[in-house]
Amino acid sequence: MEELRELKRRRQAIILAHNYQPPAIQDLADHVGDSLELSLLAARADAEVIVFCGVDFMAEAAALLAPDKLVLLPDLRARCSLADMITPEDVRALRAMHPRAAVLSYINSSAAVKAESDATVTSSNALRVLEALPNEEVIFVPDGNLGRYLAAHSGRRIITWDGYCRAHHEVRVDDVRTARRLHPQAVLMAHPEVRPEVAARADLVLGTGGMVRAARERAEVEFIVGTEAGLLHRLTEENPEKRFYPLSPSLWCQTMKYTTPDRIVACLRELEPRAQVPPGVAARARRAVERMVELT
Ligand code: 13P
Repeated sequence: MEELRELKRRRQAIILAHNYQPPAIQDLADHVGDSLELSLLAARADAEVIVFCGVDFMAEAAALLAPDKLVLLPDLRARCSLADMITPEDVRALRAMHPRAAVLSYINSSAAVKAESDATVTSSNALRVLEALPNEEVIFVPDGNLGRYLAAHSGRRIITWDGYCRAHHEVRVDDVRTARRLHPQAVLMAHPEVRPEVAARADLVLGTGGMVRAARERAEVEFIVGTEAGLLHRLTEENPEKRFYPLSPSLWCQTMKYTTPDRIVACLRELEPRAQVPPGVAARARRAVERMVELT
């Protein structure tokens, strides 16, 4: 910790951690947040170096919004399998099939896919960004469950793609039944990346930042948490008088757990690995992310 503090000072660095990061990383970070909050913090941070503790697309989004800063991703194995489920060629083919449709890409996508999009969204602003678009028809990639959620909650025709988050997609209606039986008083919160039949049975459908606010603001004292297990640490720390239960044991993202304090120290020492945005796509991808920021 001493070495980490010294390196942070010398590099003028800040450490951002996503809500799914391991407890030790959340505890040493300067800020813990959801994907939108962290992108905005990266853009505004008064720092030379940003250590992004999360997965690759998050560090890439930070690099797009903070082109004058060096963004480090402590472990390059921290990839998002959902983001890898669509290519820029796939998006171009969808556009060719639906020429009147706008393209919205979930922030869980590569910079090359963002570059093919009119705007990006995160779970916390997807409906707002969608409603700010004039198009009746919208292509939404790559998360099919979030796409179906948007279709059900907006008047738009949404063309979806069959990508999914392995952890959220594994949650079944039986998990909901079991959790409700075990914790009948609890509020059930689910991330919009869960299957539609699970989302339909939740009390609240929220991104991770929305869950943090709901847990803080609501009077209830028990919550069933339908998102990746890392969030339980933050919820428990911030609300010691309340109780939080995972909705399903499948809610675990292994690649989020590659970050360790040692790796953070090593990347601050070596200034590697860096979040790399291919130069050919950076300007167009940045425009899509900035459009999201403007629209929200
Ligand atoms: P949030 O935007 O809600 O933090 O979610 C990020 C994510 O990757 C969900 O799987």
